[in-house]
Amino acid sequence: MNALAVSEPLIRGNWINALADTGWAVTHALVSPELAVQLRREAIDLHENGYLSRAGVGRAEDHALLSSIRRDKTKWLSRESAVQAAYLDVMEEVRLAVNSSLFMGLFSYEAHFAAYEPGAFYKRHMDAFKGARNRVLSSVFYLNEDWLAEDGGALAIYADETSTEIADVVVPELGTLVLFLSEDIPHEVLPANRDRYSIAGWFRVNDRGVAPSLQVALPTTPDLPDLN
Ligand code: OGA
Ligand code: MN
Repeated sequence: MNALAVSEPLIRGNWINALADTGWAVTHALVSPELAVQLRREAIDLHENGYLSRAGVGRAEDHALLSSIRRDKTKWLSRESAVQAAYLDVMEEVRLAVNSSLFMGLFSYEAHFAAYEPGAFYKRHMDAFKGARNRVLSSVFYLNEDWLAEDGGALAIYADETSTEIADVVVPELGTLVLFLSEDIPHEVLPANRDRYSIAGWFRVNDRGVAPSLQVALPTTPDLPDLN
């Protein structure tokens, strides 16, 4: 429907079908190689200048526990950087494409740079609790050049909550974008053996339609005064 707002590769790619069929999709054509390189430089600069900080897990405050689950460092993207704004613009196209073909009602998007230093990992997890209807679609864009199998740091994807077998392995090579359903797809980052850079992001639905208890009740009888 909104075809004019969506660039050609977005429409031609079969990533939308993959997402609908399996719950995840791996694509290589959505972000231009030039933008990928600029994002890579920005991530490395931020990391080397100490702007990334240790990431949290939900409300966990126990640092020992945290370190046993994830060891990445992150910083939220901002539109103040033209390069970061360009990435957020691409994700806006993804949002529109998903909404017009899969009717997911994606409403907003946020993303952070992440650096995994040698030895860092992120244990098997899901990005959202089922039914919370908060984060519904996850994205991870990779920023590493010449990544080899022995560098570790692959993203392992599981088909569903109960499955223990890895269904897909994504190498975190520059230009690769993976999208998956936040509430359905368990995944983990295997230990990296060298600095591993990515942008992890989440599309959210608008909470209003799914939390009726938080909404203002409308009058149901005609003789109630108009409350505006
Ligand atoms: C996350 C995550 C995966 C990756 O940040 O929640 O799962 O490959 N990242 O960096
Ligand atoms: Mn995750």
